[in-house]
Amino acid sequence: MKVYLRLLTYVRPYWLPFLLGIIGFILYAGAQTGFAALMEYLVDAIDEAKADAYIYGPLALMSIALVRGLGTFMGNYFTAYVARNIVHSLRVVMFDKLLEIPLDYFHNNSSGHILSKISYNVEQVTTAATESLKISVREGMTVLGLLGYLLYLNWQLTLVFAAISPFIALVVALASKRFRRLGHRIQDSMGEVTHVASENVQAVQVVRVFGGANKERARFTEASGQNLRQSLKMATTEALSTPIVQLIVSSALALLIFLALHPLMSTGMSAGQFIAFITAAGLIAKPLRSLTEVNGAIQRGIAAAQSIFELIDEDVELDRGTLTIDKGQGRIQLDNLSFSYLPNKPVLSNLNLSIEPGETVAFVGKSGSGKSTLANLLPRFYEPSSGNILLDDKSLGDYELPALRGQIALVTQNVVLFDGSIRDNIAYGSMVDVDEESIIQAAEAAHVMEFVSRMQDGLDTQVGEKGTKLSGGQRQRIAIARAILKNAPVLILDEATSALDTESERHIQAAMENVMHGRTTLVIAHRLSTIESADQIVVMDQGQIVEKGTHAELLAKGKVYAGLYQKQFTENSALDSNGEIE
Ligand SMILES: Nc1ncnc2c1ncn2[C@@H]1O[C@H](COP(=O)(O)OP(=O)(O)O)[C@@H](O)[C@H]1O
Ligand SMILES: [Mg+2]
Repeated sequence: MKVYLRLLTYVRPYWLPFLLGIIGFILYAGAQTGFAALMEYLVDAIDEAKADAYIYGPLALMSIALVRGLGTFMGNYFTAYVARNIVHSLRVVMFDKLLEIPLDYFHNNSSGHILSKISYNVEQVTTAATESLKISVREGMTVLGLLGYLLYLNWQLTLVFAAISPFIALVVALASKRFRRLGHRIQDSMGEVTHVASENVQAVQVVRVFGGANKERARFTEASGQNLRQSLKMATTEALSTPIVQLIVSSALALLIFLALHPLMSTGMSAGQFIAFITAAGLIAKPLRSLTEVNGAIQRGIAAAQSIFELIDEDVELDRGTLTIDKGQGRIQLDNLSFSYLPNKPVLSNLNLSIEPGETVAFVGKSGSGKSTLANLLPRFYEPSSGNILLDDKSLGDYELPALRGQIALVTQNVVLFDGSIRDNIAYGSMVDVDEESIIQAAEAAHVMEFVSRMQDGLDTQVGEKGTKLSGGQRQRIAIARAILKNAPVLILDEATSALDTESERHIQAAMENVMHGRTTLVIAHRLSTIESADQIVVMDQGQIVEKGTHAELLAKGKVYAGLYQKQFTENSALDSNGEIE
């Protein structure tokens, strides 16, 4: 009920078409009752040999048909109009939410389940909204109209007829409960279907090479089969409830006929009234049946709406900060910073570090040591568990989120591009209006021009979905160009050159040194040769800083960094002498 009322708040802006739709259904219901009344008129006309009935009869029939036609159109069109608009608003609200909820949500919910909420579940809501409105208002009104007419004709008989209503209500109530439960399961199974399918679309190479087809087929068949089973249960319930209701109504009709025709009962009705009474009681059967069918749609819709509201009710990213900042200096301090994704599983412990404006700081360490996590804390994708991060001597939390993020350019470990041109991907987001000159400069600096100039459409080349038409290294260079173009005081490069060959990396290196100049840069690097000139090198292990200093200092110290460096150095020179890489 609460969910239904909440859905109604989305109807509010469309009250006028909604009202028109209801008027349409009232016209329809009136026309249905009119048909029953017409029967009375016609039969009585024959009985009493009315002279003008051959004119008024057909006229009345056509008028009733016209009113019903108009009512049908208005009702159907305007409810569809309202329902489609609600779907649209819900989708937009959901998408807006996706743009604002914390990153956690995306780690805790599979993309398949999120996508199916937006595509499938919302459609279920329209069905609920249109079908339920259409049927409950139209058929509900028809039932009321016919019932009123029946009462007017013979209230005693009508009461007998009405005695069946508790039985119908019972069937409807039992079916409702089942419909809603099944509705939830069908949605979950749709989420699973989307999830398995999208995973397989993304990992097609792995599936093929590692012979995953059978396993994936089984997974998909199971997910889709689950959907099939639940849908069939739903269909059984729907298909059963209709004939049961019909049977109840027919029994009542039979009883009515028995009572009306019984020689000992005198109803005092004319033939016309009696025919009209049976006609009206018969006409009630169909809307009554529809009312039980609509129940399925409503319950499915409510189940869908629940899952949609769950997403809509998610908290947005915490943003209590008030400081705005145009262009900061880029001084960063970690003050006893600790962080964990899950309780009692520290990923970063007690980090202390001071980075002066314009410095380049390199982070090295085994994978899983927490480097990317640290990079994610700076734009406040996550909040520190304890301790603090300061930017220009103010706690990150004091800044307005957009202002803070405006200070940072980030190149992530896995580059995902947007469907569109290379230019669109470089001048992305707030940089849409940047002039051509700057875009080309950034593209030059990131060595994007090197491969773009060989492409027929140049910067207008389409990159394909997720940039799949480009190589990993090319994608990385585009992401670097985007970061360069942003020209923010803080630049974070999370293994930004890992997909580049040593040759290109060396090229970019020179360009990067230009870019790093004059801004604070945090480089997470795998290849140590690229960070020798950093102002500080921070060695991390299991979420802790185990060493920091310059390249020379750390080498002289002869501990962790020196060990790592020695290892990579000998590996590289061994490769060099074998001529395997260069
Ligand atoms: N979203 C997440 N939820 C829970 N644990 C995570 C999440 N992301 C990373 N981790 C864990 O945090 C640790 C550090 O990961 P990460 O910062 O990516 O390391 P690095 O970048 O140094 O390779 C790893 O043990 C990883 O399993
Ligand atoms: Mg990482």
